Amino acid sequence: MAKKTIEDLDLNGKKAVIRVDFNVPLQDGKVTDKTRILGALPTIKHVVAQGGIAILLSHLGRPKGQVNSKFSLAPVAQALAAELGQPVAFIPESRGAVAEKAVSELSPGSVALLENVRFHEGEESNDPILAQDFAKLGDVYINDAFGTAHRAHASTAGIAEFLKPAVAGFLIQKELEYLGEKTENAESPFVVILGGAKVSDKITVIDRLLEKADTILIGGAMAYTFALANGKTVGDSLSEPNFIDTAKAAMKKAEEKGVKFLLPVDNVTVDSLDFDNMSVGTIGASDPEGNIPEGWEGVDIGPKTAALYAEELAGAKTILMNGPMGIFEIEACSKGSFAIAEAVAKNRDAVSIIGGGDSVKAVNQAGFGGDVSFISTGGGASLEFLEGKALPGVEALDDK
Ligand code: 3PG
Repeated sequence: MAKKTIEDLDLNGKKAVIRVDFNVPLQDGKVTDKTRILGALPTIKHVVAQGGIAILLSHLGRPKGQVNSKFSLAPVAQALAAELGQPVAFIPESRGAVAEKAVSELSPGSVALLENVRFHEGEESNDPILAQDFAKLGDVYINDAFGTAHRAHASTAGIAEFLKPAVAGFLIQKELEYLGEKTENAESPFVVILGGAKVSDKITVIDRLLEKADTILIGGAMAYTFALANGKTVGDSLSEPNFIDTAKAAMKKAEEKGVKFLLPVDNVTVDSLDFDNMSVGTIGASDPEGNIPEGWEGVDIGPKTAALYAEELAGAKTILMNGPMGIFEIEACSKGSFAIAEAVAKNRDAVSIIGGGDSVKAVNQAGFGGDVSFISTGGGASLEFLEGKALPGVEALDDK
């Protein structure tokens, strides 16, 4: 059902409580990836331009209901101010007298970021008292935290019951447009690239995309469970023997639906891997039939697979990528993921959507982040949405 949006609001002089997802990576007090901050700018700027007051709520990390300076949003306020080009007041509390007094002193056109909502126990349990306290901070509620929309928490869902109107911001609308409408009514050929570690994590999304896609390209460690299902050996590769039947059922469904379902024809292998030190031992390859011997572990798709998949991507009109092709964080295992990112970026005729989490990191690390149509800011949220699950943070908003 269509939800009310920020464009339905008169914001002049209003205090807008905006839930953003500023759960961003930090290193030595600096934000190392600003994607989520940049994603929230259109909504914040719109509130400011309309003469409203932007009061931002977010979580950072998983402090489990305890105050912990390691998870303070203070450095994020600085990064936001730099991107916005205007000061951002940092308020060291998100509920109660301190927070209420601080927001009451803000003038129209100003922006404030409040401290981590997860410093309160009631955030994750969606405590109605905490939700009411958040609601007291403003006159309207705007949810723009797509990355957290799959969580029914006090600041994402609970608050919408107490602070009306409760509407969607620009980022949430854009995410729903690309991950929803543009894949629902995808222009053909619709090519989906699915990677990641486990078939069990992705089976719901595979099943759903088998209804819509023309071609599905499989990579990542989940490809080894499919390889087992096809009677191949996978050596010491990460795999899920308990999901062989699930993998077989997916391949059968693909055949019945006429969906081209491609698996790697070759793999990069290593005889040892140390993820903490980002290093591998000897590098090898699967045999000509794609078998991996004992003592070797698959870590990436091989060059033949990358070329085959790139050919499929070149002819696509819609592309959805979710999950990397290998352990791209380690250079020796990154070529497949990066080659696929390049192939997606090269196809300028297609609507290309990167479905969040690790695939976004891989595309950015490969240097093609600016060459795709849309990069989702959601990890778990994108996956749950693509699985067809309702997102509590969206459901809670006012209907149009
Ligand atoms: C994310 O990074 O996926 C979101 O911010 C949600 O975080 P969470 O998994 O800790 O709820």
